[in-house]
Amino acid sequence: MRKYHIHTFGCQMNEHDSEIIGGILEKRGLEATDSLDDADIIIFNTCCVRENPERKVYGRVAALKRLKLENPDLVVGICGCMTQQPGEAERIAKRLPHVDLVFGTMNIHELPELLDQVEAGHKAYRVWEGDLKSCGNIIEGLPIRRAPGVSAWVSIIYGCNNFCSYCIVPYVRGRERSRRFEDIIAEVRKLGEEGFREVVLLGQNVNAYGRDCKDGRDFADLLHALDNTPGISRIRYMTSHPRDFTDKLICEIASSETVCEHFHLPLQAGSDRVLAAMNRGYTLERYLDLVHRIRQAVPGCSITTDLIVGFPGEDDNDFAETLRAVEEVRFDSAFTFVYSPRRGTVAASMPNQVPDSVKSERIQKLVDVQNAITEEINGNLKGDVVEILVEGTSKTNPSMLSGRTRTNKLVVFPPHPTVHKGDLVKVKIRKARAWTQLGEVVSI
Ligand code: SAH
Ligand code: SF4
Ligand code: F3S
Repeated sequence: MRKYHIHTFGCQMNEHDSEIIGGILEKRGLEATDSLDDADIIIFNTCCVRENPERKVYGRVAALKRLKLENPDLVVGICGCMTQQPGEAERIAKRLPHVDLVFGTMNIHELPELLDQVEAGHKAYRVWEGDLKSCGNIIEGLPIRRAPGVSAWVSIIYGCNNFCSYCIVPYVRGRERSRRFEDIIAEVRKLGEEGFREVVLLGQNVNAYGRDCKDGRDFADLLHALDNTPGISRIRYMTSHPRDFTDKLICEIASSETVCEHFHLPLQAGSDRVLAAMNRGYTLERYLDLVHRIRQAVPGCSITTDLIVGFPGEDDNDFAETLRAVEEVRFDSAFTFVYSPRRGTVAASMPNQVPDSVKSERIQKLVDVQNAITEEINGNLKGDVVEILVEGTSKTNPSMLSGRTRTNKLVVFPPHPTVHKGDLVKVKIRKARAWTQLGEVVSI
């Protein structure tokens, strides 16, 4: 049997796309392998949100030249966000001539046809080159090979219209396109029947769900309709934009049985001047008000965030405001990034780019402040009894089971004779640590 290997960079949307690519390849009779040496087809699903992952892709694919020399029948492919950047396909052709197959984020459904071309001995390069305003029809019913587990990803909206000035995503994923309400409901029902216990609804801005549809139903209506889907005990979503988080949505989440009490609300920066230059559409005051309303409606919820340091023009005072905001909100945890200029975005050509040395100092400081808060918040979990969805054996300690709280905290605990993967169990936190909590099953 011929084998394929997919290496995925970037966010959950890319991970989910890789599940579809895997599904298409399996339908052609291929089988997955973890090893590059075994593979007949190797595909890199790429991310270009920052420079680092992009550089890695070029390095990793260049290193495949050796395998290709040993086995000229090996198919090397690159897909995903990086390939959608203007001129990137040509650059790949020039710098990585051993690549046979390139396809963009809106061409995944064309993979069978492209593979036919490759198998006939031709190179196949296809990315979306038209107007991004009319890009990417939604193609339903593609095959899928889901990662095994208790949780499944479900796309609800593709693309992004926000154009935050630092971000490349709208240029490589096109404009917002919502999936049909009924198609999402049907997919989640099917996942429940197949034994999945949790779904994660995906979109660059899930709060924009439905804005492009004519039936007037929005993200809150979707959550409402999905609540109590047989078999599905938890619903999560990623990512929501703070500007579009309505009171209707807060109310829906507060009253929902299944939507988890975890809010990922990317703040990005604490200074209003920087937020305006980022085109985020809110001030710190509005953000803090949102956090306040959420905490009132959903007591005990967790709030996490994304933060960028070193945005062009960010001075010491601006950065101090980010630190102050972090102290004030007290996020459960944060993804922290150093600003990385992206070709074609507004911020890349802004004056006053911040020197690398200043960016490194700031990120270190920010990480230290946030880590102390995370440790303190998680330290307080000791003694709490929490509901865990059992994901299976712990990745770091195979003699333990692991799972997450509804607030998305990772907990490991010793196996229990009646506890299995996919169960919801009550676990008492015995030892609270910064990242992974240690618990013990208390009742079933
Ligand atoms: N759609 C989501 C996530 C987008 S990418 C959202 O709007 O929140 C994930 C995170 O990467 C962003 O939240 C941002 O913090 C970070 N990011 C995006 N572009 C970046 C850039 N050019 N440099 C550094 N970080 C960036
Ligand atoms: Fe990028 Fe902003 Fe869209 Fe998120 S909302 S994907 S940060 S443009
Ligand atoms: Fe990266 Fe594309 Fe996701 S740029 S963060 S993989 S949408």
